[in-house]
Amino acid sequence: RIVYVNGDYLPEDAARVSVFDRGFLFADAVYEVTSVLGGRLIDFDGHAARLERSLGELGMPMPMPRDSLLAVHRDLVARNSIEDGLIYLQVTRGAADRDFAYPDADTPQTVVLFTQAKPGLADTPAAREGIRVVSLPDLRWGRRDIKTVQLLYPSMAKMEARARGADDAWMIEDGAVTEGTSNNAYIVKDGRIVTRGLGHEILSGITRAAVLRLAREAQMQIEERPFTLDEARAADEAFVTSASAFVLPVIEIDGAAVGGGTPGPVARRLREIYIDESR
Ligand code: PDD
Repeated sequence: RIVYVNGDYLPEDAARVSVFDRGFLFADAVYEVTSVLGGRLIDFDGHAARLERSLGELGMPMPMPRDSLLAVHRDLVARNSIEDGLIYLQVTRGAADRDFAYPDADTPQTVVLFTQAKPGLADTPAAREGIRVVSLPDLRWGRRDIKTVQLLYPSMAKMEARARGADDAWMIEDGAVTEGTSNNAYIVKDGRIVTRGLGHEILSGITRAAVLRLAREAQMQIEERPFTLDEARAADEAFVTSASAFVLPVIEIDGAAVGGGTPGPVARRLREIYIDESR
């Protein structure tokens, strides 16, 4: 694989980041994951806008103009011959002697991008069969709207889900579902799609925005509000969205079937129109 590090395209084994990098020492970094389908980037503008916002919330500038960032994404897709897959981008506050206070503003940021090939990304077993989730308390920090690389708790939750024979976790705070470990969460009841509104509690998903727009265009009813686990268990359908998974049906919550225990029509339809539009 050819990866991008601070202006250079290098074989992955030759790429180097300092041990003093604040991304490594403090999780002082933000990231984006953009999908590639048929060699085309999905919603680059949305990811670039969210990157700029995340950086801004942490007092960091964009490391390069958006069009340069787009050029790097395209170069990596071409150099690695990616048809279907992902591009991971991380920007850190750079390397400085270890100190809780931020280093001088002129400290060069670290910018890393790499690709992950995912042949058949649009048609996976999880998409056909649906996934099982378990509920766990949401023990993350209070600014989940900033896409930081502080991902230890979501990673622990994913492992706990696996240990319980499930695929992922839905996290619960104050009695309501916030989101999945790396995706936004939805239920469908009596034809209405319910998903939590935006705020500091969840990440503003780029896929979420696209899917809600497509649902509105298809005359579907949407309620943006918190929903409880009991509501989710009694729902007709459940699903999640993310850049890497698109729309994935959820067929089981804490061991109990949702709806008929098979992917529902709303999730299947939204997945189809989202992928059609992205191709
Ligand atoms: N995760 N919520 C969380 C906590 C996420 O980490 C993600 C994305 C989403 C969905 O956002 P989007 O639709 O913009 O991908 C929601 C990425 C894919 C990841 O960490 O790999």
